[in-house]
Amino acid sequence: MPFSTIIEPFRIKSVEPISFTTREQRQLLLRSAHYNLFLLKADDVLIDLLTDSGTGAMSTHQWAAVMEGDESYAGSRSFDRFKHSVQDIFGYKHVIPAHQGRAAERILFHVMCKKGDVVPNNTHFDTTRANVEYVGAEAIDLPMPEARQPGTVLPFKGNMNVAALEELIERVGREHIPLVMLTVTNNSGGGQPVSMANARAVSNLCHQHGIPLYFDACRFAENAYFIKLREPGYADKTPKEIAQEMFALGDGCTMSAKKDGMANIGGFLCTNDDLLARQEENLLILTEGYPTYGGLAGRDLEAIAVGLQESLQEDYLRYRIASTAYLGNHISERGVPIVLPPGGHAIYIDAKAFLPHVPLEQFPGVALAAELYLEGGIRSVEIGSLMFGKAAQMELVRLAIPRRVYTQSHIDYVVEIILRVWEKRAQISGLQLTYEAPFLRHFTAHLEPAA
Ligand code: F0G
Repeated sequence: MPFSTIIEPFRIKSVEPISFTTREQRQLLLRSAHYNLFLLKADDVLIDLLTDSGTGAMSTHQWAAVMEGDESYAGSRSFDRFKHSVQDIFGYKHVIPAHQGRAAERILFHVMCKKGDVVPNNTHFDTTRANVEYVGAEAIDLPMPEARQPGTVLPFKGNMNVAALEELIERVGREHIPLVMLTVTNNSGGGQPVSMANARAVSNLCHQHGIPLYFDACRFAENAYFIKLREPGYADKTPKEIAQEMFALGDGCTMSAKKDGMANIGGFLCTNDDLLARQEENLLILTEGYPTYGGLAGRDLEAIAVGLQESLQEDYLRYRIASTAYLGNHISERGVPIVLPPGGHAIYIDAKAFLPHVPLEQFPGVALAAELYLEGGIRSVEIGSLMFGKAAQMELVRLAIPRRVYTQSHIDYVVEIILRVWEKRAQISGLQLTYEAPFLRHFTAHLEPAA
């Protein structure tokens, strides 16, 4: 029988206290953090929705596996388990462990790209873009046009614009495109999924031109579940079968196991290409570690091996997608403008529409994030003009939900705080910068209330 209560598919064995502060204390803390929530101490945050990366809770099976970690430098048993679990889902020939997603990205682009190359992606995550640019190549985002309209409801708003990809290949030439990437789900585009049909179309086009397709697979399990729910023909397939079908369309992937790997650290790089794998492993040895650990402890490899399989369990995914949507729907219903439909790992508030009276030069996203902290001790992150400057496509505040960490009453509290802030939105004013670093300024910027 269908029921409407979202029941967490776990019970809690170990608890971690969170700390309450008063509004007066938060006022002082916010001022000393220069209105930049990255500069707060985590202990001064009640509900931390800064990121879903590495912040999840591990299961009893994962903790048990941690004790099985084989810390041998070479040929560790834990690597075999890790490799077996990765290959079971992803199916690629070579599995190269790395300490997190960006390490896999750095190695991939270093080996595959050179100055003057172009790398298309539905939307590059910021570290992915930075790693493409670091080797002198150009990172080009090709999302479907509707991806930039927060209010437009479509089932697969993470899709790549295939016509634009075709046009790009014709314009710059196949020889300047060493690979195409597809990010599932599309994080920077609102946590929106990519359909199997779109992945297939991108794969066909790439392979017609002899271009390898790589997945940025961070949130592959959530993407698979959206396909099951929304794409005709997939309702009776398991999330694992769907993930396997998708990865078979590609030639390799990068992965941050801090997301759908259900681990607190880790990642990997996969490829079917023997020559590339050898070059990648050589580079890995130089900076990450021997190819059977890649900068991770054996226990981390064990936690990931188990976590990857758990992320595909249907009870978990049903709860995961429903609880994120619960937050989105409850605030959207009351008029709060968000990116629709709700994504898999996060809800993105449209700060430009929330605070139309705050000009973009006064960082409405940062101002809204600061207000959510002041009102209820909630930490979110701006993805807008402070993060991207003039290149910002949208002005968003992301509330990312750590996996298996918060209960429905925590989320009810978050809804209550957002609605309170929504009621008094007219009184919220903008901020101005007092310090900025030359790059990636959002991590360390200082701000103060605008004059
Ligand atoms: N690709 C995507 C789509 C990501 O969301 C991230 C990280 C990475 C790559 C890099 O992985 O952090 O393990 O090096 N996203 C986190 C976030 C940081 O908050 O969205 P990493």
